[in-house]
Amino acid sequence: MKLTKEEQAMLDGNEGYAVRKSMEILAALGDIFGAKNLIDVGSVQVAGVSYHNLGDAGLEFLDTLAVDGKVKVLTTLNPAGMDLENWQQLGISPDFAQKQNLVIDAFKRMGILISCTCTPYLIGNLPLYGEHVAWSESSAVTFANSVLGAKTNREGGPSALATAFVGKTPCYGLHLDVNRVPDVHVKVNAELTKLSDWGALGYEIGRKAENKIPYITGVKKADLDELKSFCASVVTYGSKPLFYMKGVTPGAELQKQPSQMVVIEQSDLKNAYDNINDDVTDIELVCVGCPHCSIKEISEIAQLLKGKKVAEGTEFWVATSRTAKQLADKRGYAATIEDAGAKFACDTCMAVAPLKDRFKSLATTSAKGCFYSRQNNMKTKMGSVEECVNAAVTGKWNS
Ligand code: F3S
Repeated sequence: MKLTKEEQAMLDGNEGYAVRKSMEILAALGDIFGAKNLIDVGSVQVAGVSYHNLGDAGLEFLDTLAVDGKVKVLTTLNPAGMDLENWQQLGISPDFAQKQNLVIDAFKRMGILISCTCTPYLIGNLPLYGEHVAWSESSAVTFANSVLGAKTNREGGPSALATAFVGKTPCYGLHLDVNRVPDVHVKVNAELTKLSDWGALGYEIGRKAENKIPYITGVKKADLDELKSFCASVVTYGSKPLFYMKGVTPGAELQKQPSQMVVIEQSDLKNAYDNINDDVTDIELVCVGCPHCSIKEISEIAQLLKGKKVAEGTEFWVATSRTAKQLADKRGYAATIEDAGAKFACDTCMAVAPLKDRFKSLATTSAKGCFYSRQNNMKTKMGSVEECVNAAVTGKWNS
C-alpha cells in the first residue's frame, strides 16, 4: 500500500504508540486485501465494547491504546455488556459492572462518544450519501451501505479503533464501486404485514443470497424500523452487508439488474418463522429492540403496555440507546413502560449482555436476536411487537 509522507510518519511513531500500532494494523490489512492507499473516513463505529466478549486481555489492549490514543473523527460505540446506569436492575453482577466500567473509561480517555448503540444513525452519527465511514456492527454497516448509500466494510473492533486514531481506512472491499455491484436479483412476491416479517424476509434472502449482494424488487413500502430490522437479519443469515432495494437504496436504479434471480413467496416467510421459532410456550425473557428501538417503537410499546403488568417470572427488556430513552422520559413513554414492570436496557442488548443460561426462553421481534439468543441456550419465538407485549403480560407465547 502506498503511504503519503504524513502516513509514513505515523507508521514511524511520530504521533505516539496508539497511532503507530493503528498504522501497523491498517497497513497489514491494506496489504492483505490489496488496497492501493488509505482514504479519509467521516466517522467510525467501534464494536467489541462488552466486557463479556473482550475479557481481561481486551481490556488490557484498550488500556494500552488509551495512554496516548485520541480519535481523529466522530467515533461512537456499539452496545456494551450492561446498562451503564441501571445495570443492577438487569441483574448484572458488581464484578462484571466494575470491569465493564473500566472498558468504558478507556474509550472515554480516547475521546470516543460514549453512546453505546447499534443504531448510531438515529443519534446523530449519520453519514452522507457516498461518504466513506468505518463501522463495525453488522446491522449498522448494512444500514449505512444500503439505506444511506454510504460506503463501509464490516470492520472488526481493532480495525475500527485503528481507523479512528488515524482518521483513514485502507481502500478495499465495499469502499470500491467495483465491489458494490449487485449479483443476485431477489423478487419479493410476499406481503409484509408486521415488523417481524422483515426479519423473516431477511432470513430467507440472507440464506438464498449467501455472500452475494442482493438487488431486491417487489417491496411496496418500507419504514425506518422495518429497514433496520431487515438489515440486521439479512446480514446475520448470510448476505454481504449491502443490498439494493428498489425505491429505498439511493442510486438503486443506476445498477444493472443481475441475471440470476430468486423469488421469495409467502411460503418462504412461513418457512423462516418455522425455522426461527422453537417449540416453547413459557417465556422468561421478552426483548424488543434488536437493533435498538427507535422512539417510534418505544411509543408503540408504551401504548400496548398501558394499564398492564408484566407477568411474574417474566422479564421484559426494551433495548435502546440512552438518547432514545431520554426522549422517552420526556414524552412519558418510559414511565408507562416502567409502571408496567418492564425495564429499559439502555447501552446494551440481549446478544452482548452476559445472559448465557440465565433465561431459558425468549420472545422478540428480531430474527437476529433469535440467532444470538440460541447461542445463549435460549429457545426462541419471533413475532410482532403486539405478540411480544402479550407474551410479557401473560408469560406465554400464544400464537
Ligand atoms: Fe444491535 Fe445487539 Fe441486535 S448489537 S442488532 S441489538 S444483537
